[in-house]
Amino acid sequence: MDHRELTARIKALLRERRGIWLAHNYQRPEIQDGADLTGDSLALSIAAAKTDAELILFCGVHFMAESAAILSPQKRVLLPRLDAGCPMANMIAAEQLVGAKRQRPGYSVVTYVNSTAAVKAESDICCTSANAVRVVEAAPSEKVFFAPDQNLAQWVAAQTKKKVEWWRGFCPTHHRLTAEHVRRAKERWPDAVVVVHPECRPEVTALADLVASTSGMLKWAQTASVKRALIGTEEGLLHGLRKANANIEYALIDEETLICPNMKLTTLPDVLAALERPADYTVTVPDDIRRRAKRALDRMLEVG
Ligand code: 13P
Ligand code: SF4
Repeated sequence: MDHRELTARIKALLRERRGIWLAHNYQRPEIQDGADLTGDSLALSIAAAKTDAELILFCGVHFMAESAAILSPQKRVLLPRLDAGCPMANMIAAEQLVGAKRQRPGYSVVTYVNSTAAVKAESDICCTSANAVRVVEAAPSEKVFFAPDQNLAQWVAAQTKKKVEWWRGFCPTHHRLTAEHVRRAKERWPDAVVVVHPECRPEVTALADLVASTSGMLKWAQTASVKRALIGTEEGLLHGLRKANANIEYALIDEETLICPNMKLTTLPDVLAALERPADYTVTVPDDIRRRAKRALDRMLEVG
């Protein structure tokens, strides 16, 4: 079956099951094109919380489907590749966060959604890269402990007067990008604007013209009147950027670096298989963890 036939079968099954198909901006092009909604982590969390569908088919990585299950417990959430994890989310365990909190009485704990449900359950409030600064500003204490991404934490710390300390996790895909990669790319395209994700190292964000979440980058592209852009995020976003503004020529800052193997795992046959055998692909969260994690996610959604 080709992409069109597979997509048609997937859509027919979704209609039968009253399902909605959500896909992250890094997914394969054919997945993004088939989905009802593509977006960044924030947009997808909002959609998962608000939808009246009975089933959420989530194409992304495990923590994203887990967040959907936390926010919409009465719905079935499917992740077509249960092995699509996020290495950053696994860089801090709940016990380690509890230890870090014990050493920092009076701190608010702000946790990036790229984290496990158990870690969210130990947090005061969650954030995404799109709202991290606003969430830190809204946190009750003037002192914040940020987990697990050291790079996003440092980017936020530079934009707030609050005292921010952080866990030393990172996204392997974005953390591999160096200032040297940016300099070499700029030698190739000296006239290009440099657009990077805040999961990049501070030495990289310091060289960028724009630092934004994936949806922030898409929004920028819609109205930008530049000729060329060097992109510092996962290569899956190029598909959306080309759709958002085909007049701009895009290139990754470094092609070998900016691929997340987990985001590339899901294929259309995997999606179809998940809908044909939903019980084998359902993501669930134990109830006690779910309730505490939901508090942290709900607080984030209140901030917006
Ligand atoms: P956003 O789409 O929220 O910017 O997230 C980036 C990311 O790395 C998700 O895994
Ligand atoms: Fe995790 Fe990075 Fe992949 Fe996003 S791009 S899922 S943060 S490893």
